[in-house]
Amino acid sequence: MDIVLSGIRPTGHLHLGNYFGALRNFVKIQETHKCYFFIADLHSLTTHPHPADFHNSVRVILSEYLAAGLDPEKCALYVQSDVPEVSELYVLLNMLAYKGEMERTASFKDKVRLQPDNVNTGLLTYPVLMASDILIHRSKYVPVGKDQEQHLEIARLLARRFNHMYGVDVFPEPQAFNFGNDLVKVPGLDGSGKMGKSEGNGVYLYEDDKSITKKVMRAVTDSGPTEPNSPKPEVIENLFTLMRLVSAPDTVAFFEEKWNDCSIRYGDMKKQLAADICATVAPIRERIDAIYNDTDYLHRVTALGCEKARASASATLKLAREAVGFKPF
Ligand code: TYM
Repeated sequence: MDIVLSGIRPTGHLHLGNYFGALRNFVKIQETHKCYFFIADLHSLTTHPHPADFHNSVRVILSEYLAAGLDPEKCALYVQSDVPEVSELYVLLNMLAYKGEMERTASFKDKVRLQPDNVNTGLLTYPVLMASDILIHRSKYVPVGKDQEQHLEIARLLARRFNHMYGVDVFPEPQAFNFGNDLVKVPGLDGSGKMGKSEGNGVYLYEDDKSITKKVMRAVTDSGPTEPNSPKPEVIENLFTLMRLVSAPDTVAFFEEKWNDCSIRYGDMKKQLAADICATVAPIRERIDAIYNDTDYLHRVTALGCEKARASASATLKLAREAVGFKPF
């Protein structure tokens, strides 16, 4: 059976970008594939979170994963730092990753711009750690949003390079995955770019209806179309993109028509969009607190996830170690 893996960094609450780019697909694919889903806590250390916040963030993301419908019996749901095999494979892969290649990745350049006082080498080798997450289970599919495409390219490069260097066929080349559709880029509500935690433009799974509605009603728009069937400026296209994710197709078609005949009222569109986002988020939000407060349950989930993940990871690591030439005397 084909193996699937993906993860999310624990920094605050999950937003609609995380949900539509990743988590919603995890919930679907756990029904049909052998899946490994994890919380990328080691990756978070690249931005130096305070230990107290950090521990709580892992708990928050775990609760939100479960509230959205991840089933720890169906998939392996674990915390990255509970699986030390990932870190050992990271060391092996680092020997095959070249400084120039890592410096050229878009995410590294972004981080250098965002945190010029903390350009640690963990940031530089971030894609290598991500490749070890993926390759440690010999995964074939990786459900992610569009922003992770370049990282997947590096995971493929390192898989190929390892196999070639050691003359083995240990690692398959992992593919980004979204059920035959294009990868998703969920826009923010501030007019341009993607929804993200550091961008401060997110709508969160944990958020209540009132706060969601307020954010959506404040979303940037323009003065409206003046020519029938004109192309949409980015700020308006973004609202339609969000609507295509949360609303029924005939609702989207209705507002498309209004746009095309220049009778669109952004207030009506935003009201509808806010109601449909709330309807998507509410059933998930309602489950989060109870799960978050159930320490025994969270402990059982992570212990089971760790056991499943380590069984798979140690089998792969054994092959990788042998390929490199580590053998008992
Ligand atoms: P992270 O934590 O930034 O995001 C987690 C997932 O959410 C997706 N995502 C989005 N998708 C569409 N539109 C958006 N606006 C948006 N914002 C976030 C991301 O594409 C991602 O799928 N490096 C990863 C975590 C990671 C990982 C891995 C993922 C570590 N190891 C191995 C897959 C496989 C990250 O920082 O994602």
